[in-house]
Amino acid sequence: MGNLLTINGGKPLEGRVTVRGAKNLVPKAMVASLLGSKPSVLRNVPEIRDVEIVTGLLSVHGVKVTKDPETGDLSLDPAATKSATSSEIDAHAGDSRIPILFCGPLMHSIGEAFIPDLGGCKIGDRPIDFHLTVLRSFGAVVEKRPGGIHISAPKGLTGAKLELPYPSVGATEQVLLTAVKAEGITELKGAAVEPEIHDLIHILQKMGAIITVQTDRTIRIEGVDQLTGFNHRAIPDRNESASWASAALVTQGDIYVEGAIQRDLTAFLNTYRKIGGEFEVDDDGIRFWHGGGRLKPLVLETNVHPGFMTDWQQPLVVALTQAEGVSIVHETVYENRFGFTDALVRMGASIQLHRECLGSVPCRFGQRNFLHSAVISGPTELHGADFDIPDLRGGFSHLIAALAAQGTSRATGIEIINRGYEKFMDKLTGLGADVELSSLGR
Ligand code: EPZ
Repeated sequence: MGNLLTINGGKPLEGRVTVRGAKNLVPKAMVASLLGSKPSVLRNVPEIRDVEIVTGLLSVHGVKVTKDPETGDLSLDPAATKSATSSEIDAHAGDSRIPILFCGPLMHSIGEAFIPDLGGCKIGDRPIDFHLTVLRSFGAVVEKRPGGIHISAPKGLTGAKLELPYPSVGATEQVLLTAVKAEGITELKGAAVEPEIHDLIHILQKMGAIITVQTDRTIRIEGVDQLTGFNHRAIPDRNESASWASAALVTQGDIYVEGAIQRDLTAFLNTYRKIGGEFEVDDDGIRFWHGGGRLKPLVLETNVHPGFMTDWQQPLVVALTQAEGVSIVHETVYENRFGFTDALVRMGASIQLHRECLGSVPCRFGQRNFLHSAVISGPTELHGADFDIPDLRGGFSHLIAALAAQGTSRATGIEIINRGYEKFMDKLTGLGADVELSSLGR
């Protein structure tokens, strides 16, 4: 049943929210349990759709997933791992990209894997060519099948010398989850080094893996015959933390984000201060608030870690619509991540999109037909409008714009938000938002 969210804007968001385990780590940690000869325990697990999807996928592959009703901690027992039919996998894969990461662990445990055609947020073409290239380098055989691909390792998996053309998070995780039990040494150059990658490495090391990260984005993995289970507390979700920080700025509010960690938000905090946002760090979290003055425009370029993360871009663009002057945002990670600005322009924002690389460094998308730079002129008053949630971060940005706008907005497709934001409605009402969720009755 679809839902409709009615939002009456104009009220600052004030109060406290708690952020738990990272959406971009927890599902991968759950997949890593497939590699163990013993059960694993994952703590700080958020109640989000992506966790439900991976629980379903692990269950059809015979993994016993038990959730502690009190804490939400997961126990993952791979003792009875088995292959699953493509229809079983399809039934659970939903709109997630996680199934691609089952390849390595399933090949190690049952010699094959079926990967359905992938979903994920519509923010670019999102090919899997890097994944298939590295899997073939380990000796995997990739076969196109109706509705997906079948992968097997008839001669086993052997370590390899690899280099990624771009520091892809997913492809780096693919290498980690495959190389840890492959025969011999794997060296990966051009690797992603996001905090979620480091947390996955810590989990694999707890299981018995041998992984070295060098300063030049080279990761070296010595394959081992056996891994045991892990007991791990997932790192908090820095993307959710940055989203609530932007919400405080856009609604001229004041939000304490329990669980936010300065170490994983350095680039975000610098930008937040430059715009005119205030923050205060303590041992349990970070308080974010609007400094009261006029927000300042800036030139912003997204990049891989430790740069300004692409998932922080959309909520922060809403704040830039309220800055005094012209801001420029150059999106260099995804070629099509400005679709969400259409609704903002209908709400009164002044945003123009460009194909040129309007930043200091030309990116992969320059001189090609991608509207991947935005020029934002402000401040302009925002007013209510109706919109459909396009993707996770775009959807969050629409909601905070509606909360700052004069008048009423109505949002459909709200279910997407549950994919990455835990207890979203409770948090909004807890912060004083004037919102109402009703069923569309279909
Ligand atoms: C992860 O996606 C995150 N998702 C994304 O967060 C995040 O934006 C992204 O990393 C970058 O940090 C999860 O962890 C579930 P990539 P992933 O492989 O792994 C290109 C959110 O909102 N590429 O690093 O899919 C790709 O098209 C989501 O939380 C290839 O060309 O991202 C993109 O342009 C959105 N071929 C770039 O690399 C490949 O085989 C980065 O993608 C793989 C990637």
